[in-house]
This record gives sequence, C-alpha cells and structure tokens, in this order.
Amino acid sequence: VSRIAPTSASSKRILRADASYASSIAALSIEAWLNTYIKDGISALFANYVLDEFGRARIVKLLNDPREVFLVFRDVGGIVGYIRISVDRSAPVDGCSGIEITSLYVQPHHQRKGLGKLLLEEAMAFCKVQKAESVWLTVNSENLSAIKFYEKTGFRNIGNTLFHIEDQSYRNEILIRNL
Ligand SMILES: CC(C)(COP(=O)(O)OP(=O)(O)OC[C@H]1O[C@@H](n2cnc3c(N)ncnc32)[C@H](O)[C@@H]1OP(=O)(O)O)[C@@H](O)C(=O)NCCC(=O)NCCS
Repeated sequence: VSRIAPTSASSKRILRADASYASSIAALSIEAWLNTYIKDGISALFANYVLDEFGRARIVKLLNDPREVFLVFRDVGGIVGYIRISVDRSAPVDGCSGIEITSLYVQPHHQRKGLGKLLLEEAMAFCKVQKAESVWLTVNSENLSAIKFYEKTGFRNIGNTLFHIEDQSYRNEILIRNL
C-alpha cells in the first residue's frame, strides 16, 4: 500500500489501497449500498446487482486498473470508509473534466462523524495533483442525505441522467465541484 501525502492529522489514516484491500472494500460497499437504498427487503434484482458490482473479483479488477484510485479510511480494526476516483471518464453532460468521484461510502456506524468529508478532501487534493479543473459525480435523486452532504462540500448541480439496473431506471443528479 502506498502512502499518499497527508494533508491533515486525520488524513494519516487515509491510504491509497492496493489489491489486499479488495475484500474489505467489497464488504463495506455492500453494507453501505444496501443500508442506503434498500428499505423494503432485498430482492434478487438488487442482490444480484450488489454482488456483481461490489463482488471481490470486480473490486480486485478495479484495484489493478491504473485509471482507478481507491483511498481508504482505516480504523484500528480495518477500513470504515472509502472513496473511488476514476480518471478518463466522460460525463453524461458537457462541461465536465474526465475525473469522476465514482463511489464514496462510509460504514453506517461511522456516518456523520466527518469521515466522508475527510475522504472527499483527500480525493480533491489527489485530483489537484492530476491538474484537473473540476470533478463530477452522479447521485441518486432520492438520496437526499448524500445530496445535502455534497451541497455542503461545494458541489453544484449541472443536470441529471438515468442509472440502469437491468430493465429498471433511476434518476440521478449530476454534480460538479471546481478545484
Ligand atoms: C454521504 C456520506 C458519504 C457522507 O459522509 P459522512 O461521513 O456521513 O458525512 P460527514 O460527517 O463528513 O459530513 C460532512 C458535512 O456534510 C453534512 N452532512 C452529512 N450528511 C448530511 C445529511 N444527511 N443532512 C445534512 N447534512 C449532512 C454534515 O453535517 C457535515 O457538515 P459540516 O462540515 O458543516 O459539519 C455517507 O453518509 C455515506 O456513506 N452514505 C451512504 C452512501 C452514500 O449515499 N454515498 C454517496 C452516494 S455515492
């Protein structure tokens, strides 16, 4: 695991992950995703989605891809959150850079303690080093909690798009933050 330059005392606990973190990132993603989006029981559709999207094999593949960067926040026992940055990603609308914040997940037990913000700011510092002028992301339009978080951390809305899981589609907001 390569250490990234710390920008604050807390960010010493933020590291760039290598493939040895794949299982932990996979488990955390499934926990946080289900906790955020599934309120009425886990259907086969959503179970298949999370197991495919966040299964260990897929995360290993991403961790070995040079266009993907995972920063993990470590507590004493393991990771409690992570942020994924993808480079060379074209946005669904014009005016965005090629850098997407693809995922930002904090364990439900550890949300609202400032960790999401710390991970985001570390990611912003990384993107600045890449000389990006802005970053973009998409967030489910019904995920009001995350939308409030992104408003508080300097993002603005520049449109919307549809996210598909099999034959279902869900409206997502497209947000951008200048660096
Ligand atoms: C969204 C998420 C990443 C935010 O991380 P977090 O660690 O819970 O948020 P923080 O504690 O760092 O909050 C940072 C700021 O946003 C604000 N904020 C966070 N959640 C909020 C909410 N639900 N409503 C209002 N403000 C909120 C905090 O008050 C804080 O403001 P402050 O700096 O003025 O105190 C985290 O809650 C999460 O993983 N949620 C589930 C997955 C998800 O929705 N991810 C994003 C979509 S990809």
